[in-house]
Amino acid sequence: MAFLSWHQRFLLDHPEVDAQHKMLFEIVNHFADVIRMGMDDELGRIMDDLLVCVTEHFEFEERLMNQINFPEVADHSRTHEELIGQLRQMQTRMRTGGHVSSKSVARFLADWLSNHILREDLAYKGYLKK
Ligand SMILES: [Fe+2]
Ligand SMILES: [Fe+2]
Repeated sequence: MAFLSWHQRFLLDHPEVDAQHKMLFEIVNHFADVIRMGMDDELGRIMDDLLVCVTEHFEFEERLMNQINFPEVADHSRTHEELIGQLRQMQTRMRTGGHVSSKSVARFLADWLSNHILREDLAYKGYLKK
């Protein structure tokens, strides 16, 4: 079973956003699989991929929220910036050999992603149809 399972409750019914979210789920699952296989040397590279995909997704989403005049765009964008900051810190710690529990990183990523979609992203879903 996947570490982080996709469910239709995560759908915003916006094809690009949903595809990007699924891609982020896949990267988090890949991260967890690599830990399970004991290939921790790979984790830094997966973190690089995740940062690229997350940054692109956040830029896309922020443009979209502006286009649909979503009123909470500033607060929402701030949560995106906070995550980017946290990911960069984890990446630096992983690169410099600082103590990082890869399992807790995987757990953090899965929780952040699912909670963010359910609490923050779904909040703009209603504005997509107006
Ligand atoms: Fe978001
Ligand atoms: Fe999102």
